[in-house]
Amino acid sequence: MPTPELVIASANPDKVAEIGIVLEKLAILIPRPEGMPDVVEDGDDLEDNARLKAAAVCEFAGKSAVADDTGLEIDALNGAPGVHSARFAGSDATYQQNVEKVLTELDGVPIGQRTARFKTVAIVRYPDGKELIAKGTVEGHIAQSPSGERGFGYDPIFVPVEGDGSTFAQMGKEKHRFSHRGRAFRNLGYILASN
Ligand code: IMP
Repeated sequence: MPTPELVIASANPDKVAEIGIVLEKLAILIPRPEGMPDVVEDGDDLEDNARLKAAAVCEFAGKSAVADDTGLEIDALNGAPGVHSARFAGSDATYQQNVEKVLTELDGVPIGQRTARFKTVAIVRYPDGKELIAKGTVEGHIAQSPSGERGFGYDPIFVPVEGDGSTFAQMGKEKHRFSHRGRAFRNLGYILASN
């Protein structure tokens, strides 16, 4: 079976790089078309937002498209920032501002109550309206302070349970072995291969 070609909805180079590594031999990723307007991500949850992006890019490009949406759920913050992870500290917030807001809100919360998880939903949308969906989750906790220079977003403060106590930002490619995005896109790769 030929390797499927998918237009990737994300314009975030950090995410595109990670998805490219995980889907390396499973799909050929085509960049999102130049000039495509931003998709308003006003869905109620990650799945809604991934679907909005996949459908919009598929329609604009006239080709099969893949989109994902990710959220960080922190138990002590009742699941926030969740679907609002990109703009937790404001609509134009930087990664660092979002990290600082999480640490401020968790000030004084002991390590045992800093449990959290990343969730990713990935959706492939075909021009005939057919859809494939895959999900990935990683459990962990929020560190007391940032560590590490790699990765992006909340990686400097997220410590996965499966690791050795390092944050995602202290890891190289091993992040993808148990990350939310690694799991979601490996699942998607298997589903693509069997369709
Ligand atoms: P998005 O909706 O998938 O673009 O993700 C929303 C926000 O979650 C991003 O702007 C990042 O701040 C954060 N995020 C997404 N994926 C990761 C990750 O793998 N590590 C750390 N933060 C992430």
